[in-house]
Amino acid sequence: MGFKCVRMWLMLILIFISLQGWRIEGCLKQERSALLQLKHFFNDPYKLQNWFEGNGNSNCCVWESVICNSITGRVISLDLDYTRSQELGEWYLNVSLFSPFRELETLDLRGNLIAGCVENEGFERLSHLTNLVDLELGYNMFNDSHVLSALSQHSSLKNLSLYYNQFRELNHFNASRLSNLELLSLSGNMFNNSILSYVSTLSSLKVLYLGDIGLKGIVDLQGETNLRKLTSLRLYGISGGSSLLQTLGLFPSLESLIFNYNNFSGAVTTDELPSFKNLTI
Ligand SMILES: *[C@@H]1O[C@H](CO)[C@@H](O)[C@H](O)[C@H]1NC(C)=O
Repeated sequence: MGFKCVRMWLMLILIFISLQGWRIEGCLKQERSALLQLKHFFNDPYKLQNWFEGNGNSNCCVWESVICNSITGRVISLDLDYTRSQELGEWYLNVSLFSPFRELETLDLRGNLIAGCVENEGFERLSHLTNLVDLELGYNMFNDSHVLSALSQHSSLKNLSLYYNQFRELNHFNASRLSNLELLSLSGNMFNNSILSYVSTLSSLKVLYLGDIGLKGIVDLQGETNLRKLTSLRLYGISGGSSLLQTLGLFPSLESLIFNYNNFSGAVTTDELPSFKNLTI
């Protein structure tokens, strides 16, 4: 082997080693330190045990509950559901902690007793996360409708789950910007029939969950003619009668209707549902 050849081999080995080093590094430094910041708040002792630096553990892309894009190495998914020590009780989230994850697509914060956001550090702080499509905030203690106003600025959202929180009204929910929203779950909040007019303007919706939200009497969806893409509607826990079945023709795409636990006073006949191919009640 000539000297030139040896040099070439050495070069190749060096390149290989440095690429390995880069691969081991895995995640971006600023995202890794942002995760370590989050660990102060999402602090259940049994979760996120491999979230630490050192001992060759600096690739945060292999950390529990973190998924990275394999090409860019950037965090695209964070599953932080039920990850806060419950005995610490209610708390306020600083949403800016998620700001460094610029390619984030999915954020799951369910079941963490979050009562709201730190002042001026709410969901408006994530407006630059234009890849964010899936936001799960269910099973928390959110009650401030300003959270809804900040969330409704996120035009990239496809799935927004707000179930089992303490919301009472949707007055600050500005549907006009949520033009990509396909799934909205509002079940288990303390609304009343007045929210129907806000929900009705979400013309991109395919799946709508409105179970146990304090609907009473006649659920008049007469005016809700914008929900033309709706394929799945879940409506349970209505007290009193409902004229819903007479207005189902307004949802031409509806395939699935879940309707259980209602206390209907009138009879329900399937004659009223002639146009649905796949209706399961
Ligand atoms: C919220 O988090 C950001 C990012 O870590 C930080 O700069 C800011 O000071 C925090 N705000 C409050 C009020 O703690």
